[in-house]
Amino acid sequence: MAERRTDELQRLGELFESEPDRLSRLTFDVAGIYFDWSKTNLDQAVVAEFAARADKAGFAAARDALFGGGIANPSEGRPATHVAERGNGSPDEVAIAAEYRQRMRALVDAIEAGAFGAVTGVLHIGIGGSVLGPALLVDALERRSAKLDVRFLANIDGAAVDDAVKDLDPATTLVVVASKSFTTLETLANMDAALDWLRGAGIADPEGRLIAVTAKPDKALDAGIDETRILPFGEGVGGRYSLWSAVGVSAALALGWEAFEELLEGAAEMDRHFRFADTAENVPLIAAFADRLYVERGFQTRAVFAYDERLRLLPPYLQQLEMESNGKSVTSAGKPVAEATAPVTWGGVGTDAQHAVFQLLHQGTVQVAVEFVAVRESEDQQDPERHRLLLLNAFAQGAALMAGRASDDPQRAYPGNRPSATILLDRLDPRTLGALISFYEQRTFANAVLLGINPFDQFGVELGKDIARALAEGKGDDDLDASTRALMERAGL
Ligand code: F6P
Repeated sequence: MAERRTDELQRLGELFESEPDRLSRLTFDVAGIYFDWSKTNLDQAVVAEFAARADKAGFAAARDALFGGGIANPSEGRPATHVAERGNGSPDEVAIAAEYRQRMRALVDAIEAGAFGAVTGVLHIGIGGSVLGPALLVDALERRSAKLDVRFLANIDGAAVDDAVKDLDPATTLVVVASKSFTTLETLANMDAALDWLRGAGIADPEGRLIAVTAKPDKALDAGIDETRILPFGEGVGGRYSLWSAVGVSAALALGWEAFEELLEGAAEMDRHFRFADTAENVPLIAAFADRLYVERGFQTRAVFAYDERLRLLPPYLQQLEMESNGKSVTSAGKPVAEATAPVTWGGVGTDAQHAVFQLLHQGTVQVAVEFVAVRESEDQQDPERHRLLLLNAFAQGAALMAGRASDDPQRAYPGNRPSATILLDRLDPRTLGALISFYEQRTFANAVLLGINPFDQFGVELGKDIARALAEGKGDDDLDASTRALMERAGL
């Protein structure tokens, strides 16, 4: 695998000098979001090189297939239909998604009309893609209109169950069990724990408080959930792309139906941009070019810092989206990849992270592609000066990473020339958040096309599950290595 070195890259400061129109070429205003990729090494030649690579990789045809219902997920022989959830897929898929959404809306309306009595809380059970998206939506937007107390439960750890139900009133709580497969160990175990909790509180019909969200309605029926409380979604909707479907029902309940529709519209607007904008104007594609550039220059990580408390769940959401989609070693045709694939996505919240991990970003030896996400308008109840300081801090970090500072004392010198991108939302409302998440999805897809890999499967998660399942059934001990056997013994298993 050929790795190009960073020192081949021109210094960022020089790029600003040699390209006077740099700011206008590498900043974009789409769907209420300002994207600034000017502090990256994308110069005109690099963009042209990647544009040619995208052509060669069949980018236009792959994008048409995604939006046209083609087999975007060849290893599982199916389309990827999350775009249809926001009205942008093939007409058949859009119609199916709309029908499922009608069912979801009818249930939301019925709950609001009192069909389940008074409802003050929702316990949303799911893991991975069946929880990270709805949790992000609720955490980001609930300050605007918190209708309900929504808790999220993912881990099989009993402590997570204790935390999730603490101070929830079982008599007025609905339980949403979201699982595409309806076979996931953690989710089924947590569903049982929730039923025990309801039963223990003397609720007469605990199963009657359950809502299942799944692509396998038969399995939910087998688990004793009545058909009227099963919200299906299509097999083509991948888990980490599923917040737009009925998986988002807890968010729709918490934020209101109108907000959910606005979220879909924002995502649809970004979809249209990705589908129709020319390469040089196409933000998800340009961002993917920078992603590939840095990975191929040896950057093994990408860090996203949300300079907004409301977006604190964005980094963990992106970890699954990007690493589960593109953390692969073979192409869609099963051949070894030619270039390094997804970097490690990580991140945190600014300004907190400045006082913890930014030392490494400014002076460490690890090369990190940094991304700042901030929101122009605040919604907090505090002195507006605080939000001004928050934004100034975000921008100061990007400036410092690029400029550096010389010093006679090597320990006090900053090398600078460290790239970053900045995303500035006008405001954090459902529409803009939908556009932001869609941007990340499409950027992930564009990376996959450039790499020739399938972003819509995730076979890598299966082996560990298989071994755990066998061990839970008392099988497979003999095949274990000595280290793992000793750990089991020490833990008394
Ligand atoms: O183990 C990984 C995974 O399959 C993710 O891809 C998925 O989002 C998560 O588990 C949950 O799966 P399910 O929705 O089928 O319970």
